[in-house]
Amino acid sequence: MSTKDTVLITGASTGIGAVYAERFAKRGHNLVLVARDFQRLETLAARLWEQHGVNVVIEAADLTNRTELERIEQLIASDPHIGVLVNNAGMAVSKPIIGSTPDDFQKLIDLNVTAATRLGIAAANAFAKRGGGAIINLSSVLGVAHEIGGAVYAGSKAFVLSFSRALHNETASLGLRVQAVLPGATRTEIWERSGRGIETLDPAILMDVHDMVDAALAGFDAGELVTIPALPDVADWQAFDAARLKLLPNLSRNAPASRYGVKVVEHAA
Ligand SMILES: NC(=O)c1ccc[n+]([C@@H]2O[C@H](COP(=O)([O-])OP(=O)(O)OC[C@H]3O[C@@H](n4cnc5c(N)ncnc54)[C@H](OP(=O)(O)O)[C@@H]3O)[C@@H](O)[C@H]2O)c1
Repeated sequence: MSTKDTVLITGASTGIGAVYAERFAKRGHNLVLVARDFQRLETLAARLWEQHGVNVVIEAADLTNRTELERIEQLIASDPHIGVLVNNAGMAVSKPIIGSTPDDFQKLIDLNVTAATRLGIAAANAFAKRGGGAIINLSSVLGVAHEIGGAVYAGSKAFVLSFSRALHNETASLGLRVQAVLPGATRTEIWERSGRGIETLDPAILMDVHDMVDAALAGFDAGELVTIPALPDVADWQAFDAARLKLLPNLSRNAPASRYGVKVVEHAA
């Protein structure tokens, strides 16, 4: 990432995205801000221009709408100044699976998975052509802690984590860096929007949104590929990842493990 890169932030009208916008503006980056609420984006853009003197382009778009999503993909592909994507727009649905319909979760999948993936692919290709760039993907601690979240939201954030790490592996040699950020509960509107009042949360687990983004950016500056702002001891994550890596040589073999008692016969190739 160069200090001159324009930063495109999705979900920038409030919450985590709006704080990323403020922090990148403070660092002198021009911005492209994407969300549905034009009025809120406009108010934020005016403030950032006034306070930090950066250019801010507003793109009002519903990223669950394919036509509008493709417009943002094309913008990333065609604007040579964009060198950082903050893939942040996301939503939660506080509903148990039992009693829900598949449609209750469709927008969540469209936004958290489809839009994040398509924008990530568009950015990776554009940045590779430009000789480098950075993608910051907002996952969640629920991506590794499905015990404490709804199945579809947790699954979507596990996808974002896995997508981020694999995308980094695929593109690092082309000058790209992909960071996955795993916030714990953070004080934003997402809770009310999801149907769960923020007052139901224990304040001991709830982080201020500015502190969360500042920690995530400190992790970004330090070159971390996975940043968990709340985790006190990074060695715990490293041990978790080391255990995962230990599985690697044995995950794909030509015979089932002996504990399954399968009598292996010669199969024709
Ligand atoms: N807050 C937490 O506790 C927490 C924890 C872990 C991970 N995260 C993740 O962090 C990211 C940001 O969350 P947040 O807490 O800042 O949420 P938030 O306060 O609800 O803000 C969400 C942002 O996304 C935008 N957005 C929502 N639907 C959209 C759509 N269909 N098209 C385009 N933009 C849309 C919203 O703006 P408009 O309404 O104007 O479109 C808003 O700017 C999400 O990916 C979330 O899953 C949050």
